[in-house]
Amino acid sequence: MKITTAKLQEYKKINRKIASLTAYDYSSAKLFDEAGIDAILIGDSVGQVILGYDSTTKVSMDEMKIFTSAVARGVKNALVIADMPFLSYQTSISEAIKNAGELIKSGADAVKLEGISAHTLEVVKRCTQSGIPVCGHLGFTPQFIGTIGGHFVIGKDFEMTLELLKQAKELENAGAFAIVLEMVPMESAKFISKNLKIPTIGIGAGVGCDGQILVSEDILGKFRDFCPKFARKYANLAQTITDSAKHYIEDVKNGNFPRIEESFTLKEEEKLKLESYQNN
Ligand code: KIV
Repeated sequence: MKITTAKLQEYKKINRKIASLTAYDYSSAKLFDEAGIDAILIGDSVGQVILGYDSTTKVSMDEMKIFTSAVARGVKNALVIADMPFLSYQTSISEAIKNAGELIKSGADAVKLEGISAHTLEVVKRCTQSGIPVCGHLGFTPQFIGTIGGHFVIGKDFEMTLELLKQAKELENAGAFAIVLEMVPMESAKFISKNLKIPTIGIGAGVGCDGQILVSEDILGKFRDFCPKFARKYANLAQTITDSAKHYIEDVKNGNFPRIEESFTLKEEEKLKLESYQNN
């Protein structure tokens, strides 16, 4: 059954945790969906884990649209959320609504944007009024890496936790259907979650959030440039991929690939004709 934003909010009410992952391609999205994931985010982390950029700020709208449509084609049930890339919503309200709409037209059910300001709140409000559900993103916000200056835990004391809650409530009041909390102390994230009506989806924010999200390339052990402390590895695909490639190279070099059953063959009489032609 298709998961909606209302369904995620219902899950919070009944204390049923929300499980979500990022995905960037059709086949992975299809597998995650079949496994029963609640929400799939086409994160702008695509910039680092798939495109090899050094930051999410390099990701363009055109790139996000391509990955969003690939993922959306693989999903039947999960809620599909697409990240609004850097500077796709900051320049003006009309540009933000246009870009959010393009991600919806590419197959997303909702969009996510980072940070908070009077402008961001207005974008959330106007998108929601236009029929585009918006997920907020507070705590560590990777698109602000230039101004934050590094990967820091956010909300580390009582005052900052209250400030985060205030921001989260503002997003909720503007119409956000959920909020991602990234790299927030677990006690702070639990406190914020308890004091919101909408669900929180944590990444590096402890077990007290209403749901969790991780970058799929991290849980699969495929991306090795860096691995955050909060990303649990459920597989070692990097090793599997390297071993498979090495095995294949060896088979090709030794003439063990391809076998007859992996080849197309001529009919016997055509084979004989070729052999006698060769011998004359
Ligand atoms: O881009 C991304 O993958 C994200 C998650 C880390 C929440 O925003």
